[in-house]
Amino acid sequence: MTQILAHRGYSASFAENTMSAFMGAEKAGADGLELDVQLTRDGEIVVIHDEKVDRTTNGHGFVKDYSYKEIRKLNANKKGVKREPIPSLVEVFEWLKTNKLLCNIEMKNGLFPYEGMEEKVIELVYKYGLTDRIIISSFNHYSIVYSYRLAPEIETAPLFLEAIYMPWVYSQSIRAKGIHPKHSTIPDHIITTTMENGIAVRPYTVNREADLKRIFKLNCTAVITDNPVKALKVKKQY
Ligand code: G3P
Ligand code: CA
Repeated sequence: MTQILAHRGYSASFAENTMSAFMGAEKAGADGLELDVQLTRDGEIVVIHDEKVDRTTNGHGFVKDYSYKEIRKLNANKKGVKREPIPSLVEVFEWLKTNKLLCNIEMKNGLFPYEGMEEKVIELVYKYGLTDRIIISSFNHYSIVYSYRLAPEIETAPLFLEAIYMPWVYSQSIRAKGIHPKHSTIPDHIITTTMENGIAVRPYTVNREADLKRIFKLNCTAVITDNPVKALKVKKQY
């Protein structure tokens, strides 16, 4: 049964990567969330997609140049009515303790190396006893390998922007239990063969009905979508 992971929370209806988007995803019946993490100047793990705060908040500049106290003053719901801070990963984990959702953490460490990010995230995962509910993903595959070395019991999955030849072989070579491919780059037979080789396949970001249908028909491990309500509706047909 394909799991539904809400991309940046229920971002089709709420401001992305906010507690409202995560809680909205739970309420909608999603199996889990996808979220993005970066580090502040003083080393706090915050949940935000871009390296800069400009697009999603009322602030300007790089996340890495803000202290945690400063970044919490920004509004991550600038188009909405209710002010919402950028969540910390601690805040999300506190809330995850109250439910059973899965959580795919994307380490946004491509542009800046964010030294110590893997250690900090993994330490928190252990502290909150979430090892079996977390999937660590990244476009930075060095980060995936490093995370596996630090915590082999936490599932990892490389993200792919482009097609890759025999992804199950690549995945096994870096000890990842899954792959997160861009959905439009992966053909049906590669999805099937990857899963037959014991590797989970969770394509992103699948929002159109026809694309969702393909994923459910192929019985992918999970789908990463902005709209868990729509995905659930389509899933019911399968
Ligand atoms: O995890 C899948 C997806 O989130 C990767 O792309 O840019 O939305 O973080 P992006
Ligand atoms: Ca992401």
